[in-house]
Amino acid sequence: MDSFLIKGGTPLHGDVTISGAKNAVLPIMAATLLTAETCVIRRVPNLSDVQFMCQILTSLGAEVKFEEGTLTVRAAKIKGVGDYDLIRKMRGSICILGPLLGRLRKATISLPGGCIIGARPIDLHLKGVAALGAKIKIEGGYVHVDAKKLRGADLFLGGRAGPTVLGTANVIMAAVLADGVTIIESAACEPEVIDLIHFLNAMGAKISGGGSPTVTITGVKSLHGAEHEVIPDRIEAATFAIAAAATNGEVTLHGARADHMHAILDKLREAGVKIERNGPALKFSRNGRLKPVDITTLPYAGFPTDVQAQMMVLMALTPGISIITERIFESRFMHVSELARLGADIAIEGPSAIVKGGKPLSGAPVMASDLRASAALVIAGLAAKGSTEVNRVYHIDRGYENIDGKLRKLGARIQRQEGS
Ligand code: EPU
Repeated sequence: MDSFLIKGGTPLHGDVTISGAKNAVLPIMAATLLTAETCVIRRVPNLSDVQFMCQILTSLGAEVKFEEGTLTVRAAKIKGVGDYDLIRKMRGSICILGPLLGRLRKATISLPGGCIIGARPIDLHLKGVAALGAKIKIEGGYVHVDAKKLRGADLFLGGRAGPTVLGTANVIMAAVLADGVTIIESAACEPEVIDLIHFLNAMGAKISGGGSPTVTITGVKSLHGAEHEVIPDRIEAATFAIAAAATNGEVTLHGARADHMHAILDKLREAGVKIERNGPALKFSRNGRLKPVDITTLPYAGFPTDVQAQMMVLMALTPGISIITERIFESRFMHVSELARLGADIAIEGPSAIVKGGKPLSGAPVMASDLRASAALVIAGLAAKGSTEVNRVYHIDRGYENIDGKLRKLGARIQRQEGS
């Protein structure tokens, strides 16, 4: 397993180009299963999750080509049974359920199961497709969905923690080829859901209300091939912005969409980060001393759970007390004990982390536990004195394209050490 060796203490300086959004591209790749015609997707990040999804599409019978950021998929003839082990390995693969059901009227896929950040049930996905007329059976670790007919329906998709991103994507993708009109209330409003809707509409779907809690889908008979460019990754952008502030550097992000990052930019400004527009680019640096801020993660347009861990590092470096409350996933604080190894003073009280910031961080060997926790540990290593070894960086390769290369370009002293 590869690890990163980071020699901290160097402020990041320079320019970085933001890659396509992981959480947009995965459902868009799944949506290519809805047509027998060729789809071309651009600005596709080279991530292990994308490679995984390519394998899943191939295992279902699609022809897939991925070259220099452009993905071409032709799903002329596909089967509805996903490979058990392949699908089980990646939570995001649940988003093939809706397209398979829409196109073939049936699907069998392994249950994705929980992961380190929480139980991650799929009850809302299943509730949504059941409302469209699908029968559901769970057997032998598989979920089987089957519908003689898919009929449009009015349905409410809100759950314990609010809307569901991939649940919304799945129900939309099942409803595009259903008979009649589907209205989803409490739909997820994330930019990644809007991006999927743009792609589906380019394929001939009739979907309105994307980005609002009410999404209306008027079923069509068939979809055709389409071309699409994936939106830039707002979480990657936030990660680099925080790394710039944490190391007291100055970094310009190219391609970052400020209109997708309101809550993140608002909290960074409150924390004392200077944000300047430089044409279409955004420049981040410190605006004097950092200030503690309280943060609660929420569905979009609230502060994203996927930036919680990175922001916690910035607060650990900031004198004063910050309270960071996680409202989306029940156990997304795995980074806290690892940050403690670097000297961070953070206590967990129920869903909140109380960060007593301002103590200097010093390097140590740490273990990445999930994608965003790994990003947080890398930022902490860059800001800490001395050497930090971040182990199990396969987590970070799932969702950040060439993060070590991009950081080196900004002056970071980070090396990938190849493991067994
Ligand atoms: N939930 C249910 N029932 C369901 C589905 C979700 O109770 O059927 C709950 C979850 O347990 C959670 C909340 O609803 O408490 C929100 O989960 P959601 O379904 O929105 O998460 P997701 O769609 O599985 C996507 C991203 C995650 C991101 C979340 C929240 C992808 C591939 N994944 O997951 O990204 O954290 O939305 O924004 O799009 C990451 O990139 O690191 C990552 C984990």
